[in-house]
Amino acid sequence: MERALWIGTSWKMTKTLDAARRYIRGLADYLARTPLPGVAPFVIPSFTAVAAVGDELPSGTQVLLGVQNAHWEDEGAWTGEVSVPQAADAGARIVEIGHSERREHFGETVETTRLKVAAVLRHGLIPLLCIGESDEVKRAGDTSRFILDQAGGALDGLSDDQLGRVLIAYEPIWAIGDKGRAATVEELRAPFADLGREYGDRTAGLLYGGSVNPDNALDLLGIDQVTGLFVGRAAWELPGFQQLLEIAAAHPKAAR
Ligand code: PGA
Repeated sequence: MERALWIGTSWKMTKTLDAARRYIRGLADYLARTPLPGVAPFVIPSFTAVAAVGDELPSGTQVLLGVQNAHWEDEGAWTGEVSVPQAADAGARIVEIGHSERREHFGETVETTRLKVAAVLRHGLIPLLCIGESDEVKRAGDTSRFILDQAGGALDGLSDDQLGRVLIAYEPIWAIGDKGRAATVEELRAPFADLGREYGDRTAGLLYGGSVNPDNALDLLGIDQVTGLFVGRAAWELPGFQQLLEIAAAHPKAAR
């Protein structure tokens, strides 16, 4: 099946409103000059910037907007949380769920990821479920069981149609952020073979994330089951994101 290559960035906890607007204006100008067929770009700002970023995007843009988290309830006494309908109201189409930083620091569990995936699907948005093992799990040779448990737990009970709207990002914890080290393609073949067997054609995409940059993007997109990249630092400045979009657009996997 031909489908677009997903290239997305989470800005994590960076950018003022001004910086967010400048980035998105630049991205919109760039895309107006440089059509990128076969690529599905997405941008996931901090909550404070979501509506402002949405306002800067021209109507009909190919850029999908996302949020980095959302609660499973639609509304209520949940101080500090944001619901899926609120995220949708601000313009989000994608909801990131279960990033390892949220699992590690904010108590996200397999059960909360399951509740959040269900809430996102209920409101017609796209869940972007992040999974990935620690260095310890990897060294114990337990990666496959661990990531399949994380995915299976979060996606438990979904119909084929619902699963077909889910994006999965495999992001090994040891490869994320400035304390991480970039994974080699060889290290990623087995986890992606496992994920591909279980979810490959049944979900909207299988993305890789963790120290992605313009130097390794081509090799990462070459892994059989990979249909997109989810990027932090290397896309926080617009030129880095543009380079990644161009690499994807030139890739034979980009649907035309
Ligand atoms: P990184 O972050 O690209 O900065 O390693 C990736 C992620 O956390 O999704």
